[in-house]
Amino acid sequence: MAVRRAGLFTRLILCAHRRSRVQRPVLRLLSCPGTVAEGLRRDEPLSGSAETGDGAVASVYSVAPSHSGPGSEEKTPEKKFFEVQNERRDQAQRTVLIHCPNKISEKKFLKYLSQYGPINNHFFYESFGLYAVVEFCQKESISSLQNGTHTPSAGMEAAIPFRSRFFNLKFKNPSHQASEPAAIQFSNQLPPSSRKLFDLLCCAKSVDDQLNTLLKEFEVTEENTKLRYLTCSLIEDIAAAYFPDCTVRPFGSSVNTFGKLGCDLDMFLDLGETGKPSTDKTLGNFLMEFQMKSVPSERIATQKILSVIGECLDHFGPGCVGVQKILNARCPLVRFSHQPSGFQCDLTTNNRIALKSSELLYIYGSLDSRVRALVFSIRSWARAHSLTSSIPGAWITNFSLTMMVIFFLQRRSPPILPTLDLLKTLADAEDKCMIEGNNCTFVRDLNRIHPSGNTETLELLLKEFFEYFGNFAFNKYSLNIRQGKEQNKPDSSPLYIQNPFETSLNISKNVSQSQLQKFVDLARESAWILQQEDQGPQSPSNHQPWGLAALLLPSRVSTKSLAKKKSKKAASERVKNLLESIKKNRTENLTST
Ligand code: GTP
Ligand code: MG
Repeated sequence: MAVRRAGLFTRLILCAHRRSRVQRPVLRLLSCPGTVAEGLRRDEPLSGSAETGDGAVASVYSVAPSHSGPGSEEKTPEKKFFEVQNERRDQAQRTVLIHCPNKISEKKFLKYLSQYGPINNHFFYESFGLYAVVEFCQKESISSLQNGTHTPSAGMEAAIPFRSRFFNLKFKNPSHQASEPAAIQFSNQLPPSSRKLFDLLCCAKSVDDQLNTLLKEFEVTEENTKLRYLTCSLIEDIAAAYFPDCTVRPFGSSVNTFGKLGCDLDMFLDLGETGKPSTDKTLGNFLMEFQMKSVPSERIATQKILSVIGECLDHFGPGCVGVQKILNARCPLVRFSHQPSGFQCDLTTNNRIALKSSELLYIYGSLDSRVRALVFSIRSWARAHSLTSSIPGAWITNFSLTMMVIFFLQRRSPPILPTLDLLKTLADAEDKCMIEGNNCTFVRDLNRIHPSGNTETLELLLKEFFEYFGNFAFNKYSLNIRQGKEQNKPDSSPLYIQNPFETSLNISKNVSQSQLQKFVDLARESAWILQQEDQGPQSPSNHQPWGLAALLLPSRVSTKSLAKKKSKKAASERVKNLLESIKKNRTENLTST
């Protein structure tokens, strides 16, 4: 434990150094009363977590959960998921995205923009060009910026007039660019390279430190989260052309605390009141209804809505490229790339249960700091061994892996995570939630859930995870996080993880027997590697892969199976050659006869 604390302490000092290099003067200059930046300024001498501009530390208004776990004494009250979402959404609505010239003076840039209103916050990042994300203090500043913005002069091409919040900044006189200083701090939007990760892991002080390092390096940063909410807000502006009451909300790993830098951006188009059957709001004998077109089913309505939004994004959405309408999927969606942010986006509608799953995972991820550290490492381990893939197929998904970790942590003694049934019993009237006949009720106030008394280390949990699932009777049992125990499988799917809300569904129905077997073999091998290290002296200092780093290296299991495949191929090649030579001999004999 002492070692783990030392590691964290070092990182905090490093972060404090980094923090002092950036943004402070600008925040002081432009912060407005009552805002986040103002709070930041007031807290300056005390704050250990102010915004860095490079995303290294969460800011004071960060919605990232405060970490609890073994050894942590203080616990700050956690925000509810919807409070976080609303706060972020509000920030995003006051924010603009600007493509900037490569060489630009930060000071002049901010001075130019502050003529439209005070700026609360900003950062720069690189993605095929230089971009700035600028959050104003007030929404009105955006219309005043839009009023002062020009339509691009048409050359050979014609522009489609659309007043978005995505701008292009140019020098009036391009020769000025050369004289601008180029010392701008960029916020990093990408995960570390494998090389860097290995170096960091090999230099860590303990396996616990390795898992925490991996988490810190991969988790979405404050800036990346802002960019995700901003992207949703920009898409909402486009969808609002058809559905003025709509909202576009992020869900999935972007918001459930398990997001990794570079993960996709799952968006939910909520049509608000217009999309729902309404309750009687008026007095008197009459009831007024909107005249609406009807279609035979809700699925068809969803397909039609996504179809027009897809067209709209494709034709008029600045920065939206590669739009694909995948309307016949189980859950219809529009997939596209948002070029300036670099996000691969999946837009769905009529998918409220997925939003609720994100909230549930947010609760689980916030309850104990070991949960996220373990999930990130297991996900990286699975990715390193090609157990997961970005292409849909018979592989295990990250969502299923997260459920497996949650289930495993519910099975510890004492449990590290509560069952979903227990979260349901802690719920109050306001938490009650039914979606399409499914009971999705659980407590949403994190402060009402007691922390676990379990003090097991991450190292032990990692090893036990591999042992547990390396020996789990997948042929007999399903995983059920609602009850926190295994149950007899209702069908013959190789892997059965019960959907927590639609309880008759299996979230890992797609997983094939061979993929499950690969998972089991790798889990056993990883448990064995960690056991060997327990027995022999660990040598963190000699820069050889050890602990988690050793688990991320190509496995002997997959090398063996590759070798098996190769030797099978060689054998079949030999048989083929033999047959061919027999055939040839026969033909020659026949010819000679
Ligand atoms: P990443 O791999 O980091 O994108 O993780 P993710 O959790 O965002 O997964 P993904 O993008 O595949 O799906 C987004 C969200 O949809 C998940 O977080 C779940 O809430 C939900 N989801 C995904 N797959 C399933 C499934 O098979 N069943 C159900 N009920 N929900 C799912
Ligand atoms: Mg996702």
